[in-house]
Amino acid sequence: MSPKKVPHKQAPQVTHKVTLLRGDGIGPEICDSVVQVFEAARVPIVWDIVEAGLDEYEKNGESLPESALETLRKNKIALKGPTTTPIGKGHQSINVRIRKALDLFVNVRPSLSLPALPTPFNDIDLVIVRENIEDTYGGIEYRQSDDCAIALRISTRTGARRAHEYAFELAKKEGRKKVTCIHKANIMKITDGQWLESFYEVARDYTDIIHASDMLIDNCCMQLVQKPQQFDVLVLPNLFGDIVSDLCAGLVGGLGIASGANIGCDGAIFEAVHGSAPDIAGKGVANPTAILFSAISMLYHLGLTKHAQLIKEALRKALMSVEDRTADLKGKGNTQTFTKKIISHLEAYV
Ligand code: NAI
Repeated sequence: MSPKKVPHKQAPQVTHKVTLLRGDGIGPEICDSVVQVFEAARVPIVWDIVEAGLDEYEKNGESLPESALETLRKNKIALKGPTTTPIGKGHQSINVRIRKALDLFVNVRPSLSLPALPTPFNDIDLVIVRENIEDTYGGIEYRQSDDCAIALRISTRTGARRAHEYAFELAKKEGRKKVTCIHKANIMKITDGQWLESFYEVARDYTDIIHASDMLIDNCCMQLVQKPQQFDVLVLPNLFGDIVSDLCAGLVGGLGIASGANIGCDGAIFEAVHGSAPDIAGKGVANPTAILFSAISMLYHLGLTKHAQLIKEALRKALMSVEDRTADLKGKGNTQTFTKKIISHLEAYV
């Protein structure tokens, strides 16, 4: 009699439901690239696709339908393509509305030098933690007279504290040694004064492991373009964080590769730092790298470490070939050919 086969007990594979908001402009093109790469890597997620953005606004008069918000609330995890916000007129930013509705209180944007992309500095490894809801992003603006327009800047102790706590906890988790608080408390003595005060209150709990310091925003910009290696984790109020994170993206190779995540207690939305790039939308030339790196962070967040590592490796390999890259990285490839290249590197493992 042949021995009985012992049934091999395998942990059941959990399938994650993730909202996919493809956005507008280059959003659908680069999100499709993620979908293809995830499919090739057999990532155990199912997409719950929602429509929002400029196209939705033009079709139905609502850029962010309540049903889309409901789906985001229900699934708690999302990948979001960029969405256009008209300048000086039109609908309110979808990003601002989503961040507020889901209380996604920090925006995390890593900037890491990639061997494939030589830049004036090849040893940058910093993370921007940006307060994501307050500051001038409340959209509270009004006209006092024909001559004078006013915007309100909101800064709460609660908002500051949780951004600072997140920055220190991230530093601790990633083994980082320094957190620098960026501000303009010499001029905005009350709002940024409170921001700075909160920072040093939180820092007291980490004195043994993390060095805390602060810097004025203007000096920070100068230091970043001269000696970016000195920075580790930077924590900034919303507007400064928005601007400085694009600067940092430029330092490591441009907007085409910069990833980001909006994190709250009850949800997380992963997206590229760049916008909808109307100048190249529909041409099939957009670089999907930034949204892919954001999607990889999402996989780590979901605990899908192996899939995250696999895709990161394939993406890094594809970036090594100048020919295959997209035009923004001086290559001859386009969105689809670059995506196929990544998939070809994946095929060796899957
Ligand atoms: P942008 O980031 O869309 O474009 C700036 C420049 O970078 C353009 O020349 C564009 O072609 C290039 N670029 C951006 N992403 C690229 C990619 N993946 N591959 C190749 N080239 C890329 O910034 P812009 O033009 O200031 O904003 C356009 C729209 O995007 C605005 O309506 C803005 O409000 C919105 N926006 C949306 C964001 C979001 O949804 N998270 C973030 C930033 C801007």
